[in-house]
Amino acid sequence: MTARSSKLLSSAVVALLGLGFAAAVSANEAAAPAATAGGKPAQVGVCAACHGENGVSASPLFPNLAGQQRSYLEVALKGYKSGARKNPVMAGQAAALSDADIKALAVWFSSQKSVLYTVSPEGEAKK
Ligand code: HEC
Repeated sequence: MTARSSKLLSSAVVALLGLGFAAAVSANEAAAPAATAGGKPAQVGVCAACHGENGVSASPLFPNLAGQQRSYLEVALKGYKSGARKNPVMAGQAAALSDADIKALAVWFSSQKSVLYTVSPEGEAKK
């Protein structure tokens, strides 16, 4: 690599880092007021269209969120946001969420009454 191309490359990297930082800051600013301490986060209204307000989905196309582990929900949302977990629908949903929003949403949905259960071997045998 020539000195010139390496200089170009490093300014491109600096520019990209700057862009990423600006985007992260503006996403946090845009989403920050929506996250409330405790209680129902404002974004639940959007999630409700697919997952239900209490995290109980009306369709098998959308997973139930109610009663899932809080840490699992946080990891899932951060994964969609970063692209580590790939799903075009949820990538769009998670893109504008700040870490505080994600935490508040995970608290909300994890504390809703779950409709999920584990089938016991006895339960299976009784059928
Ligand atoms: C347009 C429909 C739609 C909306 C709106 C939506 N989701 Fe989702 N969500 C999905 C689908 C589809 C999946 C399954 C994606 C997959 O296979 O990874 C999903 C998956 C998830 C998961 C992973 C669940 C699991 O069991 O792994 C979480 C957490 C989640 N959504 C949270 C949210 C939150 C929080 C919001 C609101 C900010 C939201 N979603 C809005 C459709 C939606």
